[in-house]
Amino acid sequence: MTQDQVVIFDTTLRDGEQSPGATMTHAEKLEIANLLDDMGVDIIEAGFPIASEGDFNAVSEIAKQTRNAVICGLARAQLPDIDRCWEAVKHAKRPRIHTFIGTSPLHRAIPNLTQDEMAERIEQTVSHARNLCDNVQWSPMDATRTELDYLYRVVEIAIKAGATTINIPDTVGYTAPRESADLIGKLIENVPGADEITFATHCHNDLGMATANSLAAVEAGARQIECTINGLGERAGNTALEEVVMALKVRNDIMPFQTGIDSTKIMNISRRVAAVSGFPVQFNKAIVGKNAFAHESGIHQDGMLKNAETFEIMRPEDVGLSETNLVMGKHSGRAALRDKLEQLGFEVGDNQLKDVFVRFKALADRKKEIFDDDLIALMRTSDDVESSRLKIVSLAVQCGTEGPQQAELTMEIDGEVQSTTQTGDGPVDATFNAVKALFPHEARLQLYQVHAVTEGTDAQATVSVRMEEAGRIVTGQSADTDTVVASAKAYVHALNRLLVRREKAGTDRREVSYKDVS
Ligand code: KIV
Ligand code: ZN
Repeated sequence: MTQDQVVIFDTTLRDGEQSPGATMTHAEKLEIANLLDDMGVDIIEAGFPIASEGDFNAVSEIAKQTRNAVICGLARAQLPDIDRCWEAVKHAKRPRIHTFIGTSPLHRAIPNLTQDEMAERIEQTVSHARNLCDNVQWSPMDATRTELDYLYRVVEIAIKAGATTINIPDTVGYTAPRESADLIGKLIENVPGADEITFATHCHNDLGMATANSLAAVEAGARQIECTINGLGERAGNTALEEVVMALKVRNDIMPFQTGIDSTKIMNISRRVAAVSGFPVQFNKAIVGKNAFAHESGIHQDGMLKNAETFEIMRPEDVGLSETNLVMGKHSGRAALRDKLEQLGFEVGDNQLKDVFVRFKALADRKKEIFDDDLIALMRTSDDVESSRLKIVSLAVQCGTEGPQQAELTMEIDGEVQSTTQTGDGPVDATFNAVKALFPHEARLQLYQVHAVTEGTDAQATVSVRMEEAGRIVTGQSADTDTVVASAKAYVHALNRLLVRREKAGTDRREVSYKDVS
C-alpha cells in the first residue's frame, strides 16, 4: 500500500528571510533555492515580489533556474501585488501564486473591512490570481484566531474562486496540537469543495509547538507542511523542515506519511542557512544542533561505541553527518579518543595514543568539552584565512582596572595597510572605535552577542553582530579563543557584507512588508 504523500513547502526565503536581521544577498538566495531544489523540496516560496526590486529579481531568477520544485511568490490581496507576483514566478516550469489576507477580527480591523467587504475582496483577488496561473494558494492569515463560521465562509469562497491549495496559518503561534488537528478536520468536513483542494498547515513556534501542530494537522488531513530550514523566521520562527521530515521518517510506524526530501542533505543546507542568515543554530536544537548527535558521558560513549542505537533514534548519516559527533570531555576514555581521532582521519599507534591522551587530558582539565577542532589542533595547528576588502592584520588591546581601555589596530583596507590606537569603554568598545577610525561608516550596531563555545582560559567565543545602515541590515560572525579578537573579526565580517550590499544599493531595499495591509 502506498503511503500518503506530504508536500513540503519551504518558506525559508520568504517567511524566514523576512525576519529582521536574516536578510540574504541575491547570490545567497539563489544558492539556498538550489540546495532546496536538490534536497527534494516540492514547493519553494522564493519571496514577496512586490516588496522591492531585489525581492522581485530574486524570485524571477529562482523561477528561471529551478529544475524541479514549484516556485511560489507571495502577494497581498491586492491586484498590483498579484500581477507583480505573476511577473516574477511566470518563468518557472511550475509557478504558483500565493495570496493572503488577515481574516481574524484583529486583522480585519487593519484595512477596516467588514466581513462582507473582505469576502468580496477574497473572491476578486483569488479569481484574478487564478486567471493568471492555474496553481493558486490562498491563506486566511491568523486563521487560528478567526471565527470558525467566517473561516468556513471565506475558505469556501476562495475554493470557488479557484484556489487549489488552502493554507491555514497559525500566524502568532497560538494553537496547540489537538486544536490544530481539530480545525483542519472541521474544514475538511464542513466546507463544500474541500475534497478537491489541498489543505496546508503553516505554524509559528511562539509556544514551541510548531512541529507538533504541523504533524497534528497532517494527521487530520492536511497534506502540505509549510516550514523553514532551522525553523528560521520572525520571533520564535516557523516550523522547522528538518524536524517534520525526520519525525515522519523516524516515527513512520505511527505517522505513515512520505515526503520527497533526501534527508541526507539536511546538515549541509542547515549550515548554509545559518551562515548566510546570520542566525546560528542553538546547540541543542533538534536534528541540526551541534549536540543533537553528541554523547559526552563515559557510559554513553561506551554504549555508543558498542551499539549506536543505545542512545540514538536516528543515524547521523541519515541527516548528512558522516559520523556521530562524539564530543570528548574529561570523562572520555582512551578507546573513545582513538575512535574519534580515526574519524577525523588520524591513524594513531599505541605509543602515540598514550602521548596524545596525556595532552588531551590536560586540555580536558581546562575545557568542559573538547570539540573536533580542539583535537585537530592537538595533532597539528591550523590557520584561519579571510578574503575580503577589509582585513584585520593585528590587534593589541590594553585593559585593566586603571585608565582607559585601549586598542591598537592594524587593518588592510582595499590593499592598503593602516594603523590606529583608540580608547573606549572596555576593550571591545575600544576595538570597534579603532575599526571606525580606520574605516569611517554610519552603520549602527543593532546587536552584539557573545557565546562561549568552550570553557577555560583558552575558551572559544563565537561573536555575532548585526548592523544597520540606511535600512540595510547585515550580520557578521566569528570565533576565536580571544573574545576581543572574535568581536573585531565579527564586526569586520559584517562591514564586508555591508560593502557588498552598498555596491548594489537600491536593488535590495524593501519598500513594503507583507504586513502593510490596506
Ligand atoms: O504567518 C502567516 O500568516 C504568513 C502568511 C503570509 C501566510 O506567513
Ligand atoms: Zn508565517
